[in-house]
This record gives sequence, C-alpha cells and structure tokens, in this order.
Amino acid sequence: MSSAHVSNAVSNDQPLADRRTAVLVTGAGGEMGHGLIHALAARDPECAIVGLDLRPADDSIGALCAETLTGDVRDTHLLEHLAGRYRFGHVFHLAAMLSSSAERAPLLAYDVNVGGTMNLLRLAIAERERTGRMPMVVLPSTIAVYGLSSLAAKAVAGTITEDEFLEPRTMYGCNKLASEHLGRYFNDHHGQFESDTPGSLDFRSIRFPGIISAETLPTGGTTDYGPEMLHAAAQGHDYTCFVRADSQLPFMTMPEAIRAILELTDAPRSSLTRSAYNVRSFAPTAEELADAIRARYPDLKVVFDPTPGRQLIVDGWPADVDDAVARADWGWSPTHTLDSALDDYLIPGLKAHYGIV
Ligand code: SER
Repeated sequence: MSSAHVSNAVSNDQPLADRRTAVLVTGAGGEMGHGLIHALAARDPECAIVGLDLRPADDSIGALCAETLTGDVRDTHLLEHLAGRYRFGHVFHLAAMLSSSAERAPLLAYDVNVGGTMNLLRLAIAERERTGRMPMVVLPSTIAVYGLSSLAAKAVAGTITEDEFLEPRTMYGCNKLASEHLGRYFNDHHGQFESDTPGSLDFRSIRFPGIISAETLPTGGTTDYGPEMLHAAAQGHDYTCFVRADSQLPFMTMPEAIRAILELTDAPRSSLTRSAYNVRSFAPTAEELADAIRARYPDLKVVFDPTPGRQLIVDGWPADVDDAVARADWGWSPTHTLDSALDDYLIPGLKAHYGIV
C-alpha cells in the first residue's frame, strides 16, 4: 500500500470494522444517476447504494438506496463523514456541470468538475490506505475532451480515436480531461516514490457521446438538442434547434450508456489497456435526427436557429468516435442504430412516460 497519504482527517463516527460496504453514486438525481441506480438495484437487490446529489432524491431513487444525501461534491466534510460510515468499494462519480452550463460559469465548473472529482478520488484513496483494498472509481467523461479547430478540421478528422485532438475548447472538456488524467495518475503512478507497484485505486472512464433518454431530459449540455427535439415531438410541440442542420455528433441511448458503465465496471482489470474509452451508437446530423423523428411524429416542425456559442462547441466536437478499443478490451458492442433506438426503446418509452396510448 502506498504511504503517500492524500486523505485529510478521517471521520471517527463509527468503528472502521462496523462500516457497511456500499456503492457511492454522486449525481444520483441526474439523468445518468437515475438509470444507473435502477440498474445497480435490479442486478443486486442486496447492494447498498448511497446516493448523493445537490437536490433531494426523488422517491424512485430513494426507494432503491440505503441512504440518500443532499449535498455538494465540493463538501469535503460531508464526504469524510460518509467515508466514516461506509466502506465504499465502488464510487460512480456522475455529478458534474455539463458543457453549456460550464461555459457560462467556468470557474464554478472547475470547482465542481475538477475539485469534485479530486474529492472523490481522495475518498477512494483514503479507503485504500485504511483497508488495503483497491476501490474502483468510475467517471463518465465526454466527447468534449476533443477539440477540433474548425469545421474543416472536423470534416477532415471524421471518426477519431482516443489519443487524437485532445485539445478541448470548452471548460467542461478541460475539466473532464483533467479529471481523466487525475484518475489515471492515481491508478498508475500514485506512491511511485515508495513502491515498486504504484497505484492506489482502480480508475475507469468512458467518454460518452450525447445521450438520449425516453424518461428524462438533460440540463446544461450542448448535445441537449437531440433529446429536446425528441421529447418535443412526443408532446406534440415544435422545436427550435440551437445548432445548424448539418451539425453531426455521436449519440447513444441512456440504457446503452448504463450498460457500457456496468460492462466496463465488470471487466477484469487485466484486460484494460487504457483508462478512458470511446463509446457510441449512431452519429446523425441534426437534420437526419429531425427526419428520423419526423418519420415517427409527422407533425413535428423543426426550425434550425443556431445559437453562436453552442454552435461553436458542437463544431469543435468530433462528428464520430472510434470505439474499437472498448470493443477489444471489454467487449463493448452498441446494439442500436438510430432507427432501432427510436423504434425499440425511445418511442415506446416516450409513450409510457407521457401516457400516450
Ligand atoms: N452531453 C454532454 C454535454 O453536452 C457532452 O458529453 O455537455
């Protein structure tokens, strides 16, 4: 075990031996938190889940968690208090400010997205120091870690691999890339002065594309035009799209994103060759997305009225990403095309969600 302590004082609320083994989910009330908590509870009803979110947990999450807390990932006292009561073998650190929100408040975004990640890494390292067990920290990262310098560069780049174009042009992308590197450092190198086998935790990360859920809508992201357009159609509303019709980005559905997290979590550590992986399912332009939705909701009217700032962000993100390493290392395989995502999951889910028969 490393002796390069990074933890602050540890809470003495409870004798260490009495701490209950649990899984910590930050951002528990968010879109991904909902999906992940339901999936974790479904596959192991005995799993003690502790949910943390800025907002009070809703009933559907509360019912599945051993405990839910309303609090901030910047609050180290809260995290130390939690670590004094639970032995966290897995930490799913989902809490973050998404790209458009982060661009409007970059310094706050740094505190939440990088400071928050460091606090969760510190919690996991403290666990290692106390028990010798290697906790796993899973971080959703993003296509925002990539930065294409122009639309022409985006067109030339096409589908990109994990090690290309890592010059993010948004605060969110900088935050997530920094968080990936911090995780990789603590996974590979922490304690290298004291040990021949450095590394204090098991850090795994997925660079998600835009995610579309039938049940929830994102807040503050820049891929939000995808889910917003679809939910508008399902409710019989028109939609004003904040990017140009030719804007292309990769997307996937929320159940596929949750499956990816669980598959990466379950993968043997020895099979992983990197700490951050691309995944994707389909990569339509905004117009192709609108056409596919209109084929199912013929009344949908979409007006493309780009917002300059958000358009700039989308123009700097890749048109598509190469998920070959995830396929090779942990068996990732997307199940959906855009059409099958709509027909098999999104439209039935939207009908149930909005009570449309
Ligand atoms: N969905 C995120 C956002 O738009 C990108 O990963 O901020």
